[in-house]
Amino acid sequence: MAYLRIVTLLGAAVMAPPLAAAQAVEAPWVAEARQVGMSVPPKLLAVLQAEIARGGAEGAIEVCRVQAPELARAASQESGWSVRRVSLRNRNPKAVPDAWERAGLEDFDRRAAAGEAPAKLELAAVVSVDGKPVQRYLRALPTLELCTQCHGPADKLSPAVVAQLKALYPDDRATGYKVGDIRGAMTLSRPAP
Ligand code: HEC
Repeated sequence: MAYLRIVTLLGAAVMAPPLAAAQAVEAPWVAEARQVGMSVPPKLLAVLQAEIARGGAEGAIEVCRVQAPELARAASQESGWSVRRVSLRNRNPKAVPDAWERAGLEDFDRRAAAGEAPAKLELAAVVSVDGKPVQRYLRALPTLELCTQCHGPADKLSPAVVAQLKALYPDDRATGYKVGDIRGAMTLSRPAP
C-alpha cells in the first residue's frame, strides 16, 4: 500500500496552538470535499426509491449496480476529486478500503458505538503518498430502513433479492446490517495544490 504517513490532520487544527485549537478554522478544501461527498448519496437514494417503487428491491439491484458507480464518476468529473464508495464488508469486489480508509471506517464504528450520530461522521487529512501530499476525505454512509432490503440480515431479504445478489456478487459480504449501522463511506481524494 502506497500510503506512508499522515502529515497533518485537518491542517489548521493541528498547526494552531493547543489553547486555540477549539476555534481553529477548518481548511477550505475540507468544506469543498464535504460538499462533493454529500452531493452523491441523495441522488442515489432518489434513484433507489424510484426503482424500488417500480420493480421492488430485486428490480433495483441492477440499477444500483450501474448507477452508483456512474454517479460517483460524474461527481469526479464535475469536481476534480476522485470519488468512490468503500466498505469494511464490501459487496462490489472493488470497494475494498485501503489502509487509511480502513482505519477511518473502524474509527467511525467506534465513534458510533460511543453515541456519535452516524450521519455526521467524517474524517479529513492530508496524507503523503509517494512523497506527495494528497487531500483525503471520508464520510460515513449510515444504513437507513430502505437499505436493509438489500443489506439487511440475510434471512430478512426477499428470495428474489438473495438469488440476484448470489448471481451478481458471489463473494458478497454486505448483508447483516441494521438501521443505524455504518454501511460504508464516500471517499474522496485529490492531490494537494
Ligand atoms: C436495491 C438494492 C440496494 C439497496 C436498496 C441499497 N443498496 Fe447498497 N448496494 C447494492 C448493490 C447491488 C451494491 C454493489 C454496487 C456495485 O456493484 O458497485 C451496493 C453497494 C453499496 C456500497 C458500496 C460498497 C460495497 O459494499 O460494495 C455502499 C456503501 C452501499 N451500497 C450503501 C448503501 C446504503 C447506505 C443504502 C441505503 C441508502 C443502500 N446501499 C441501499 C444494492 C443496494
